[in-house]
Amino acid sequence: MPVQFDAPRGHFHLYNNSISYIIEILSNGQMANLYFGQRVSTRGDYSYLHESLTRPHGAYYNETSALALEFVRQEYPSFGTGDFRQGAFQLLQENGSFITDFVYQRHHIYAGKKPLNGLPSTYVEENNEATSLEIELYDAPSQTRLFLCYCIYETRGVLTRQARFAYEGNSQVTLTSALSACLDLPDHDYQLLQLSGAWGRERHVYERTLCPGVHSIYSLRGISGAEHNPFLLLKRSATTEDSGEAMAFSFVYSGNFLAQIEVGSHHSSRLLFGIHPENFNWSLSTGESFQTPELVIAYSSSGMNQLSQTLHQLYQQRLVRGYWRDRPRPVIFNSWEAVFMEVSETRLLSLAEKAAPLGIELMVLDDGWFGQRNNDSVALGDWQVNPQKFPGGLQSLIQKLKERKLDFGLWIEPEMVSQDSELFTQNPHWVLKAPNRSLNPSRHQHVLDLANPQVTNYLFDTIAGLLRENDIRYIKWDMNRYLTHCYSPAYSPQEQGKVLHCYILGVYHLWERLLQAFPQVLFESCAAGGARFDPGMLYYSPQIWCSDSMDALERLKIQYGTSFAYPLSSISAHVSAIPNHQVRRNTPLNTRGNVSFFGVLGYELDIEDLTPKEFSQIKEQISFYKQHQRLLHRGNFYRLLSPFVQNQAAWMVVSQDGLEAIVCFCQILAIPNPGFFRLQLRGLQPEALYSLVGYQSPLCLYGSQLMRAGLPLDIKGISRPHGDYSSLLLHLSATSAPLPNLDYAFPQECFSEEVSDINLSIPEAYR
Ligand code: DGJ
Repeated sequence: MPVQFDAPRGHFHLYNNSISYIIEILSNGQMANLYFGQRVSTRGDYSYLHESLTRPHGAYYNETSALALEFVRQEYPSFGTGDFRQGAFQLLQENGSFITDFVYQRHHIYAGKKPLNGLPSTYVEENNEATSLEIELYDAPSQTRLFLCYCIYETRGVLTRQARFAYEGNSQVTLTSALSACLDLPDHDYQLLQLSGAWGRERHVYERTLCPGVHSIYSLRGISGAEHNPFLLLKRSATTEDSGEAMAFSFVYSGNFLAQIEVGSHHSSRLLFGIHPENFNWSLSTGESFQTPELVIAYSSSGMNQLSQTLHQLYQQRLVRGYWRDRPRPVIFNSWEAVFMEVSETRLLSLAEKAAPLGIELMVLDDGWFGQRNNDSVALGDWQVNPQKFPGGLQSLIQKLKERKLDFGLWIEPEMVSQDSELFTQNPHWVLKAPNRSLNPSRHQHVLDLANPQVTNYLFDTIAGLLRENDIRYIKWDMNRYLTHCYSPAYSPQEQGKVLHCYILGVYHLWERLLQAFPQVLFESCAAGGARFDPGMLYYSPQIWCSDSMDALERLKIQYGTSFAYPLSSISAHVSAIPNHQVRRNTPLNTRGNVSFFGVLGYELDIEDLTPKEFSQIKEQISFYKQHQRLLHRGNFYRLLSPFVQNQAAWMVVSQDGLEAIVCFCQILAIPNPGFFRLQLRGLQPEALYSLVGYQSPLCLYGSQLMRAGLPLDIKGISRPHGDYSSLLLHLSATSAPLPNLDYAFPQECFSEEVSDINLSIPEAYR
C-alpha cells in the first residue's frame, strides 16, 4: 500500500516509485506538508523538515507553543488564526464568524479510488492501481467536518486531491470559498509556466519567475475559457524538457477557477487551486455536504517532457472513458469552413462524393442545418431540421452517406438559445437573467439555465430524440459565449451563489445521461474553438476542438502549448484552406497535414475546389495517418524545439517500445543560406538501429547517434525544408531489436591481438 502512516509521529507518506508526498498532523491537530518531490525512503524520519523558527511578528497559536501558522506549510489553511496568507476556504457561521480550527479526528486508507458524485475525476479499473487516503478533521464550534482526500497512483508520478465539507449542526453554515487543494512549498526558486491566450490563440506558453507576492490566473467566464487554461507548471530555472524538476497542477473542472501562487515573505510558495471564490457561496444545512472538484498534481525529476507524458497517459487511460477511449478515431470532414451556413443535402452529398475517395470516414454537418439558421442571429434552440435545406430530413442524407461508406456527425449548441427562436419565445424564463435587468446577448444568443433541472431534462429529451431518430455517430457540442448576468430564476435569492457551479454540474449531468444512453456516440467538445479545453470536458468527450484558428503556423503554437497537459488523442486538428480564414496566411498543404497529424486529424475546406495534385496529396495524408494513428496517439510525445522561442519548431512521438517514431520539423520563416543544424531526437533506444522509412536514404543510424549527435537536415536523402512555413516529416523504424548496450561493455575481442593485424593491413602510403 503506497500510503504509510507513522502513528507515533503522526506522519503520512504517500509514495510510489517516482514520487513522495509527506504530511504531518501538527501539535494543534491541523495538517501540514513536510515534503513533495522525488521519491524518498519510507524508512526515514521526516520530523526534521518541520522548521519551527521563532520569528518576529509571528502570531503564535497559543502562549506556550512555538507554532505560528504563517510559518508552517499547511495542507488546507484557513484565514484568521495567524496565517496571513490567502486560505483554501472560508466558512461563514451563523454568528457571523469566519474563524475555524479543523483538527485531525481519524483517517481512512483504502485500495482504489472512489468516483466523485456528479463531478468528473480520474479513475481506476482495478483497486490495486491506486491507494486513497481520507483525513477527517472537525471544527467543533461550527459542527462541520472536513475531509481531505488524496489518491496516489501505483505506477504514475501523480497524485490527486480534493476536499469535502459536511455540516452536522442544526442551523446553517456557508462556504464562501472552497478550493480543491493547497500546496505549500519550502522555497520560491521556480519559474511558473502557464497556458494563456484568447480566441484563436489558445494555450500559448508564457513563463515568469516567481517573486514575493501573488501570481494568479483565473476564469470568471462561467467556463474554463480561452484566456487561461486550468493548468500551472512550476519548474526550476535549470529545468529543461529533458532534465530537472518540474511539477504540474491540472484542474478537472470546466467552470470558473482560480490558480494562484503566493510567495510569502520568507520565500515559501503557496499554491492554491480550485473553484474561483468570486460569486461563489454555498450554504450547508443539517446533513448536507459540499464536494470540491479534483486537482491532479504531477511531478517529474526528469524534465517537462516526462511530466507531460505522465499527464497524457493518465488522461488517456484513466480520465477519458468508454467506447472511444481505446479505439482509433474516424477521420472527419467538417462542413463549417467549407460552406459555413450554406449547408444542404445537395451540397453535403457533392462534398461526400469527394470525401469518400479521399479516405474520409465521417461527415460532420456543422452549424446551419436547423430552424431558420441562415446566419448566427437566429434559431439556436430550434433543433428541427430545416426542410428547405434537407427535404428528406437528416435520415435521407445519412442513408445516402452510408451508401458512400461515410458515417454522419452533427453539430449542436445545446446550452444556448437565440432571442429569435421558438424555444426562447415559449420559455423566456429558461435563460440566465438577473431580475429587473436587461438581457445581454452575445453572438445574438443567451445562455440557457443549465442549473435548472427542468432545462437539462428538456435538453436530454431533445438531443436523445435526435440521436434516436437518426443514425448519428458523432456529436460536436459547441458553446459560443461566456456567462454573464448569472442569476437563475429556479433558485431562491439566497442560493444565487450556487448558480455558476450548478450550471457546470448541470452540463456534466446532461452529458453523463447522454453517454449512458448512447455509449457509442463520439462526442467532441467545442467552445468557440478551444475555450473549454479542460480535463473536466475530457471525462465526457475524448476529443476537443482545439481552436478556431486552423492556420498551420498558429496551430504549431496552440498544439505545442496544449501538449503540456493534454494527449494528442484529445486534440482535434483540421486541415483548412488557404489563404487561411483567420490570418490570411498561405501555408503549404504538407505542413498543414504534418501539423494536424499530431492530433485527431480532420479536414475542413471546400474539397470540391481541390486540384488533382492536392487531392492526391490529401489522400496520401489520410492514408499515412490511418496507418500510424496508433503510434501518433499512443506513443510518447516529445517537444523538441519551441515555436515560442525560435524560428523552428519540432516534436516527435515514439512508440512505447522505442522502436518506431514520427518526427515533425517546421521551418517557420525561410532564411537564406542558413547555418548548420542538427535535430536531436528523444526517446529512442540508444542501441537500436533506425532507418528512415520512405526516404531514398541508405542511412541507418543508432538511437544514440540520433539523440546525442543529432540528425543534420542537409544530408543526402533528406533535405532541409525550404521556404516559409515548410516542414519535414520523418518516420523512423528500428531495423532490428536493439543490440545489447555497448556503451559500457567492452567485449574482450576489442583488445585482442588482431587489432595490430588490422593496422598492418593499412596500405603503406597511408601509414
Ligand atoms: C464555433 C466553432 O468553434 C466552429 O468550429 C463552428 O462550429 C462555429 N462555432 C459554428 O457556429
